[in-house]
Amino acid sequence: MNLTSICDTYTLNNGVKIPCVAFGTYKAALGDNVEILKQAAACGYRYFDTASFYGTETFLGQAIKESKLPREEFFITSKMWKDEMGYDAAKAAFSRSLEKLGTDYLDLYLIHWPLPSPGYKDWKTLDVKTWRALEELYEDGKIRAVGLSNFLPHHIENLLENCRIRPMVNQIEFHPGHTQEAVVNYCKEQDILVQAWSPIGRGRVLEDELIVELAGKYRVSPAQICLRYALQRGVLPLPKSSSPERMRQNQELFSFEISKEDMYRISTMPPTGWSGEHPERERIRS
Ligand code: A2P
Repeated sequence: MNLTSICDTYTLNNGVKIPCVAFGTYKAALGDNVEILKQAAACGYRYFDTASFYGTETFLGQAIKESKLPREEFFITSKMWKDEMGYDAAKAAFSRSLEKLGTDYLDLYLIHWPLPSPGYKDWKTLDVKTWRALEELYEDGKIRAVGLSNFLPHHIENLLENCRIRPMVNQIEFHPGHTQEAVVNYCKEQDILVQAWSPIGRGRVLEDELIVELAGKYRVSPAQICLRYALQRGVLPLPKSSSPERMRQNQELFSFEISKEDMYRISTMPPTGWSGEHPERERIRS
């Protein structure tokens, strides 16, 4: 791994360079959002992940404007929600996102979930129609890269059989205790970059005995173990935090390396911290 800072990049399958760590904005809708996002930019984050569902696009647009940095300094991802799928709906959703973000292009745009609801029968046709809209926006130069979120291999196969432009990214729940190996391996084979939402398992993983042990061994925090683990797997983590101290801590991932043995121990630890979300099931609430 040759990464040395959060601004170092991975290269997507269309050649676009993407910073290797993003700042997640889900639930930044609580508290003083614009201030938190401005702090994150001041801390050095340039890649921000939002979605129409999060309700944070307007705040992010404002924070970017107030940062006084040029738009091109930032890498911005948004996603269309389950009720915005379909050819026309996806195009309309994209326009709304641009407007809220106060920009005329996105760096990355994702389909948020493969099914609008568990049990939805005609997802194959709906996904292909939605993807068609993204392909056109991409070809028109309005999006620099297009991708998926929460797609499982069979959902991706359906698109690969029917697309002109291959997805560049798949964003999934990924953290120690829930690494979705089948999805990660499939994406790797297909040259699709995996991104990790909830890379520290929304805190649920931070008290796990192995993660705590390794934090002591490497003299870092449990959160840093989780984030470094993602990077060493070639996965792009999207940590979020409302505290400047933790925002900074989450960038300090480049001065230690988890050994091969410890990587295997993390990859095989007992399941823990799953959000309860699966695209084909009703959400399990813990
Ligand atoms: P806070 O905003 O108080 O920092 P995830 O991204 O896995 O869903 O987890 C997000 C949660 O993890 C947030 O509630 C955030 O709380 C917390 N968090 C973020 N960074 C750290 C860290 N370095 N150490 C402990 N908790 C963290």
